[in-house]
Amino acid sequence: MVEQEPVGPTIKSVLICINRRFHGDQPSCAARGSESLADTLEAGVRDRKINVQVERIKCLGQCTKGPTVRFAPGGCFHLGTSEADVPAILDELEELCGTRDDDPGPPLHLLGS
Ligand code: FES
Repeated sequence: MVEQEPVGPTIKSVLICINRRFHGDQPSCAARGSESLADTLEAGVRDRKINVQVERIKCLGQCTKGPTVRFAPGGCFHLGTSEADVPAILDELEELCGTRDDDPGPPLHLLGS
């Protein structure tokens, strides 16, 4: 489920809650698999060279609806996120943030050397 808020002009980060509560009666994103989800999201961002930071954080205030992912600053929440949602999230991030050019370019040759 995605709750839409206006997307800010520049998304810099994707936040994923990895909070774990150790009382069985309290919900948490980690108890619903968000740590593995964070691994998958980080690998996808790295492999696709998406120009965004993945930040693991402790609670986004949506504990009963997690795993919770949010684009930041000011982006939408992705609630009840699963591994199956990751490709679509990566597509959205790539469209919003673009990709990095890790190519260092041609070797630098100094004149006279
Ligand atoms: S525990 Fe994940 S949003 Fe609160």
